[in-house]
Amino acid sequence: MKIIIAENMEEFNEIAADIVSRQIRNKPDSVLGLATGSTPLGLYALLADKYKKGELDFSRVKTFNLDEYRGLPKDHPQSYYHYMYENLFSKINIKDENVNLLNGEGLDPYKVCADYEEKIKAAGGIDLQVLGIGHNGHIGFNEPGTPFDSVTDLIDLSERTIEANSRFFESPDQVPRQALSMGIKTIMQARSIMLLISGSGKARIAAKALKGPITQNVPASVLQLHPFVTVILDKEAAEYL
Ligand code: F6R
Repeated sequence: MKIIIAENMEEFNEIAADIVSRQIRNKPDSVLGLATGSTPLGLYALLADKYKKGELDFSRVKTFNLDEYRGLPKDHPQSYYHYMYENLFSKINIKDENVNLLNGEGLDPYKVCADYEEKIKAAGGIDLQVLGIGHNGHIGFNEPGTPFDSVTDLIDLSERTIEANSRFFESPDQVPRQALSMGIKTIMQARSIMLLISGSGKARIAAKALKGPITQNVPASVLQLHPFVTVILDKEAAEYL
């Protein structure tokens, strides 16, 4: 596990964008796994900027998003579909047919999840998976206690996650109670992983995940077992490392 501590958020975002850019330049048809949330927003802004300057070409890139809320229509302002188009896809030359998100509106979520696993395999697997981490150590929406061999599935969100994500909704009751998420095994099958952790609020969980025991109670601790993980933290998040 390679741990990089950035001086500030500007450097944090640049390091992350360099890793993604290198991946795409080395393999123009890369398969990227993408996260939503606050942490990767700066990364996505820089990637869009690099595309605008002619430094990056996404025409052959494929993406698979980690997760999606269950029951939110695609055009809901808090759907991850909406987030991805708003913050990245509408600003780069990725082809719609190369964008993959779990369909949270599907009538049979279990089939949606099983099909997603097959689609990732058919694409040749994920080359670089971008991850954030929840305050409870979740990756994707794999909450504490999720078995390490889990695959893409329908998940019940924990109270902690509902509370954390309620900042994006008018009230906590509007936060969906379920989500579809890649499993921990699905994430671990990516050839390389970049975990982004920023802010003092993540300092304790960062130390547990990166330096603590590998346990299902801290889902991100499983990443210690992956051979190619780069973790980027800002100074605040690295306080207890
Ligand atoms: C998002 C995702 C989540 C977030 C995590 C951190 O697709 O899978 O695991 O990465 O909840 O979210 P932020 O960055 O908003 O703190």
